[in-house]
Order: sequence, then structure tokens, then C-alpha cells
Amino acid sequence: MDAATDLFYTAAVKKTPAPKKTTSSIRRTKPESKIDSQSAPVSAALMPPAAVIPEVPPKGKAAIGDWIWTCRPGFEVDLAQELLLLSPKCFAAPLDGPFVKSVRRPAILPVLGRQVLCVQSILSTKTGSITDVAAKISASILRGLANEKVVPASSHWSLHVWGPDTEEGKKQSAAIAQWQTAVVQKLQADVIGLSDPAALGRDKSRSYDHVVAQVCFPRAETAWVGVTRQGELPSRFPGGQRRLQLPKGAPSRAFMKLDEALEWLGVAPGPGDICVDLGAAPGGWTWGLLKRGARVIAVDLGKLDPDVAKMRNLAHIIGNAFQFSPPEGVDWLFGDMVWRPLEVAALIARWGKNHWARFFVVNIKLAMKKKVEMIYRIKTILEQAGWRDVKARHLYHDRDEVTFVGHR
Ligand SMILES: C[S@@+](CC[C@H](N)C(=O)[O-])C[C@H]1O[C@@H](n2cnc3c(N)ncnc32)[C@H](O)[C@@H]1O
Repeated sequence: MDAATDLFYTAAVKKTPAPKKTTSSIRRTKPESKIDSQSAPVSAALMPPAAVIPEVPPKGKAAIGDWIWTCRPGFEVDLAQELLLLSPKCFAAPLDGPFVKSVRRPAILPVLGRQVLCVQSILSTKTGSITDVAAKISASILRGLANEKVVPASSHWSLHVWGPDTEEGKKQSAAIAQWQTAVVQKLQADVIGLSDPAALGRDKSRSYDHVVAQVCFPRAETAWVGVTRQGELPSRFPGGQRRLQLPKGAPSRAFMKLDEALEWLGVAPGPGDICVDLGAAPGGWTWGLLKRGARVIAVDLGKLDPDVAKMRNLAHIIGNAFQFSPPEGVDWLFGDMVWRPLEVAALIARWGKNHWARFFVVNIKLAMKKKVEMIYRIKTILEQAGWRDVKARHLYHDRDEVTFVGHR
């Protein structure tokens, strides 16, 4: 038995005391309610002061030159606050729909921004036939490519045509597909040798310099056109909508949060890596990690899905994640506990201080009003604990929660 295997099995048999509370009583606990004696106390030294969150102005209107950000519907005010925090003079203001505008792009991308476009043209779709409007959109794109000094017939640029990720937006999806076809046809008529820029493989768009022409339809009657370098964008996917399919056998939709997080991180556990998954049940993350060939110590107050529990290379510990510690350092720490965010942050900080894992990917729930303040407090707590390159992102599959990653 090698050292890693030894560690894996030692951890598996190590007993973690089960908490007195039942899972259901914990789930019912309101965030920010009184401290439970079972949880790790949050050290005062770990508590950075709360950021002063700026006032958000009333709704505005998009104008040429604005940066227009999209977010998960319902997060517009939070995103505007975050933009103002990152760049006080960016004049961020919510727009109609899941959009926020700012007059400049902060140097640091906001956690809550799924995608952004710098508006070069605002076009009305009602001013002519679909062919006429597609011609105007195509002309605007070609102007943007010329500004960016990109040869239009090259594969150095992609086209993203998208609408808001709302119920209203979903109803527009057939119309958006028609617009995409019309714009591509017009571009191909104007540019000899152009292959479909909307169908370019995402791997081609990995480089900072790759150019992305975006056409966003915030409503059926309006199109915003913008041409930007990929390095300025939060996502490589149209509208930041990274849609994933739930694979057969995955026991929970949470699987997609982890898959998206690992894709964003750009590094993932491989065969033989030892992973600890805190708050693992019913087992979507654990299942995904096992499928990647990793060995997993899954810790949860509750049981795993029976099909996951039967899988090889898995040790399941029914117990409290706050009382679990690995006998030796592991490769990866994962966490998706429904629990008070500052206490989860303090737990991940403890793992960082003790060098118990090399990488972490943790989803922290933000069911409170002051989300922006909480995100930056958590980030500081993790950085102060020695985690490096701590990044946070409101991923497409994240709901009222944000994914944090970092390494030692
Ligand atoms: C959102 S679910 C996790 C879903 C899981 N990542 C998946 O892929 O299926 C949250 C889990 O956190 C667990 N949890 C909450 N507090 C915990 C604690 N103190 N210790 C261990 N597990 C905890 C709950 O029992 C619940 O199963």
C-alpha cells in the first residue's frame, strides 16, 4: 500500500463524531442565526472589516461606449454595487432586464458579472427587414474588427449572438437563432472565405487576444453590438451561459456546478489524486471526481446516493465537516455545504493554514442581502490564511452562491 492509499484508508476509518443536530434541522437554520456549538468558531482575527458598499443609482439607459454587463437575474443591484466598489467612478447603474451598465470596465472583473460587451452600436430591429438589419449588424461587426486590426476572413475572431437568460429571453431563442443565421450569411457574403464565426471551437477562443464580436438582443426590438478582446471578458461562452448537460448516472444537478468550476479553473483532479468533498451528499461532486479517476473522501451529515456509495475509490464519512481533519495533506479540498458563509470560510482558512490541501474549490452560499460585502470578506479570509490566487466567480450553474478557488 503506497503512502497515498494508506492516507486514504486511514481517513476512511477515522471516526468523525456526528453532530447532535439532524441534517433537516441544520437545513432549516436561517443564515446568520446564532452560532452552533458544533461549528468552528470564526476567529476575530480572521474577520476583515466589511467593505463600504456604495449606493446604487436608479435604472439607466444603455448608450454607445457603455460597458454592459449581464448577471444572473435578480443580481443586478449587487453587480452594480460590486462595479462601484471596484471602480468608484464607473457610474454603474442597472438597466432593464439582467443588465448593468458602467462607463468604464474595472481593472478587476466583477465576481457577479457573467459577460460584458462594450457597446459600439445600438440598433433597432424594427427599422427594416431581417436582411436589412442583419446588414447593419454585419457592417458594425466589420468596423469593430477593423478597429481591433483583425482580418475578417481569419479564425482570430468568434461571433456570439445571445439574449438574456430570463423566461422572456428563452422565448426569444428561436428569433435569436434566426438573427444569427442572417448575420452569418451577410458576413459570409461580404467576406470571401469566411467560415462560420459562430461555430468556432471554444478552444480557439482561449487566448487573451482572440476577438469576440457580440450581438446581444436585450429585447426583441433592440440589438447591441460590441467587439472586444477575449481577455477583457469574464466568459468564453455567449452571454456567459455555459450550459452543461447532466450526464447519465450523475446523482444531482450539483455535478454541473463542479464541472463548470473545474473548466473555469483550468486544472482538475486526475487519476489517483486524493480529494476531500465536504458536504458531499447526495454525491454529484463525488461522482464527478470518481469518474475522473480520483480517490474521494466524502464527508456529510447525510447519506450518499446508494449508487454512488457503491463506487470504488470512495470512503464515505457520515459526520460533521467542521470536525473532520485529514491525517495527512490531500491534493484537493472540495466543499458545497449549505451552511453559514463566514463559518465555511473559516473552515477553508483552517485547511489553508494547516496545508491540508494543495487546491480548493468551494461553493459558498450567499442567502443574505449584503452579498458583495460577504464575497470580499470571504476572499480576504481565505487570502489571509495563506491560500494563493484566490478567485471567486458566480458561475452559470451557481444560484444564490458563489464558487471560490485557490491553491497553496
Ligand atoms: C448542496 S448539498 C451538497 C450537494 C453535493 N455537492 C452534490 O454534488 O450532490 C449540501 C450538503 O451539505 C451537507 N452539510 C451541511 N452542513 C454540514 C456539516 N456541518 N457537515 C457535513 N455536511 C454538511 C448537507 O447534509 C447536504 O448534504
